[in-house]
Amino acid sequence: MPKLAGLLLVNIGQLLTLRAPVTGLRRSASLSEIGIIEDAAVLCVGGKIVSLGTTKEALRDPWLKKNRKKITEIDCGGRVVLPGFVDSHTHPVFTQPRLVDFEKRIAGAGYEEIAEAGGGIRSSIDGVRRASKAALAGKVLGALRDLAKHGTTTVEAKSGYGLSLESELKSLEAIRAAAKQWPGTVVPTFLGAHVVPPEYRGRSREYVEIVCKEMMPAVAKGKLAGFVDVFCDRGAFSAEETAHIFGAAAESGLGIRAHMGQLSETRIEPFLQFRPTSLDHMDNVNEADLPALAASDTVATLVPGANYFLGLSQYPDARRLIAAGVAVALATDYNPGTSPTISMPMAMSLACTHMKMSPAEAIAAATINGAWALRLADRKGSVEPGKDADLAVFDVEDYREIPYWFGVNRCVQTIIGGVAGC
Ligand code: NIG
Ligand code: FE
Repeated sequence: MPKLAGLLLVNIGQLLTLRAPVTGLRRSASLSEIGIIEDAAVLCVGGKIVSLGTTKEALRDPWLKKNRKKITEIDCGGRVVLPGFVDSHTHPVFTQPRLVDFEKRIAGAGYEEIAEAGGGIRSSIDGVRRASKAALAGKVLGALRDLAKHGTTTVEAKSGYGLSLESELKSLEAIRAAAKQWPGTVVPTFLGAHVVPPEYRGRSREYVEIVCKEMMPAVAKGKLAGFVDVFCDRGAFSAEETAHIFGAAAESGLGIRAHMGQLSETRIEPFLQFRPTSLDHMDNVNEADLPALAASDTVATLVPGANYFLGLSQYPDARRLIAAGVAVALATDYNPGTSPTISMPMAMSLACTHMKMSPAEAIAAATINGAWALRLADRKGSVEPGKDADLAVFDVEDYREIPYWFGVNRCVQTIIGGVAGC
């Protein structure tokens, strides 16, 4: 019998739909709404979610009764199914792990001290500049496949270790080439303003001009990125330089996001006029900025993997942000210097244990608010008819086990565009 491009998941112990009575970004109490259906079923056709309900209801459906033999069926055996994670902050274009920095830090050196001694971001530049596009694409594809194995189906991917016109374009082209070979959704971001590269040391203004006048137009012309990111912090780019880059990004028609408040505090309110889609890290946020941030559509993306890997005792104050009504997302910040993990469940576990987010809040932050952080919430981040059929199956009975079991991968199946993969 010829099969239809359909997939039916039945006997789902808990389906986390992430549906909520509210529309828009999840803030405050609505961050805990994960819309559980027990003994659930989901029908996907043509890459989209078509219907959901209890397994009993699904099996009574007349269309399904007629077509059941023509569609692929997965018996979930009481496991938990949720929308595929949206990892809205990764840096996958690098060639080598930073093992010397790792040992230096264990021996007591700090992140900024290592960077000043030529380690850190600058130590990844050589590898990227020397690598071929194909080699970089291979690295990115490897990361995308690992991400999918852990339940992630949508990934934001930044350049930012090339830091010359040629190497930044090569990095973004590598992301594009890898994305073509991966069934999930990849959102590329241009991070030419990651740090000032060594050849422009002491001449950051000149480098910023190259980012804005040479790199950005080439990125926009080649449609190589949807967003521009800036590392706005001590040792990277100032608030003034960041505003200048944001202005150029807006002129080029690119979306805006930034690394903000990781090492030091920068006042946020002046940046909100640029309507950044997300501000990420947010370890240091001024109280006076919270009302304006909460009133905006800017997502605060928290990346506790970086705090963990840097051995910090302080984590971003998620409770303060959530209480203020700021929309909070979680991401891995996958990168070789501060967060070499592709695991969203690990980021969620850290968010629960160190940032006191509840498991439900962590799940919403890793799915629907991640989708908002990429402006993809119309297609991603929840299990609702019409949305993309991107799902993750976890071998657990209760959703709270997803952040509970840390350091193991309980994701047993990832479905992307209605196709069951790894
Ligand atoms: O998000 N803070 C800036 N960027 C990365 C770190 C990059 C690196 O050390 O390679 C981050 O933590
Ligand atoms: Fe980052």
